[in-house]
Amino acid sequence: MSKSVLLKSSLAKKYWMAFTGLFLCLFLVGHLIGNLQLILKTGEEGRRAFNEYAYFMQQNILIKVMSYVTYISILFHAIDGIMLAVQNKKARPVQYAKNNANANSSSFARQMAVLGSIIFIFIATHMVNFWAKMHFGSIPLHTYGVSMNGEMGKEEKKFYFTHDLAPNPLPVVDEIVVKDEFDLYIKEPSIKVGRGYKDLHSVVMAFFTGKETNGVEGNQYALIAVILYTLSMFVLSFHLLHGFSSAFQSLGLRHPRYTPFITGFGKFFAIAVPLLFAIIPIIIMYAN
Ligand code: HEM
Repeated sequence: MSKSVLLKSSLAKKYWMAFTGLFLCLFLVGHLIGNLQLILKTGEEGRRAFNEYAYFMQQNILIKVMSYVTYISILFHAIDGIMLAVQNKKARPVQYAKNNANANSSSFARQMAVLGSIIFIFIATHMVNFWAKMHFGSIPLHTYGVSMNGEMGKEEKKFYFTHDLAPNPLPVVDEIVVKDEFDLYIKEPSIKVGRGYKDLHSVVMAFFTGKETNGVEGNQYALIAVILYTLSMFVLSFHLLHGFSSAFQSLGLRHPRYTPFITGFGKFFAIAVPLLFAIIPIIIMYAN
């Protein structure tokens, strides 16, 4: 391949890397805001808020489309990044004597590819742990218990479904059946009476605390999971420290007045976002 063709394809790759990378930064902000509910609200209120949020994310058509754009962006960003690193290495078979990432773009691309690959492995295992369970696994619906005085003044606990027609409690009884994962029906006659929420909150709690939570089995490797999540957030931070401002450069968005601000904001983003993600599993583990 001629040098100019190689350069052109490498520029196109950098452009797409930057574009998908910045889109994924937006995804991270949205995902972080949703996940912070896991620690900002506690008890039944937190459980309800998070499960309602997860239900909304799964039902809203616009969010669904954005989810597919996210999956495609992750794949595109990862494949493009590896191809760029390989292409740069091929274009410079003799390595620089000193590997200075700022002066040497092939070493920069290689470092980013290594960090990115670790993040990709994190995302893949993370999606198996949560996303796959939510979409393909059998997560119980969110039910809550209410204690009341039963016959002869004896205290009894009755369970109700949390559902989208909130004012009417739907008791967990044989007459109410779940169809198509969410739909709650009266058995006879078959009438739909609402849609329940999957209890993703309990799945996350059981995963990071290791304890059985509302019928969801505890994760026996919870401590390892918390450590690996925290380490992955360090890797994410380094990847963003390099990537955020270089994305603006690749897109040609350089301006004497705005570039220092973008660089500063990029550093803040690269530290604050992974740090906030990292404290979520740690707080869940210690507070529960
Ligand atoms: C440490 C804190 C985190 C927690 C507690 C967490 C939790 C979750 C949960 C519960 C889901 C499933 C949501 C659903 O299917 O409705 C999910 C999905 C996902 N997470 Fe995370 N996450 C965390 C960090 C991250 C990070 C740092 C990344 C990326 C680097 C990430 C990427 C994703 C992706 C791509 C999905 C699929 C999203 C979709 O279907 O739209 N997560 N996460």
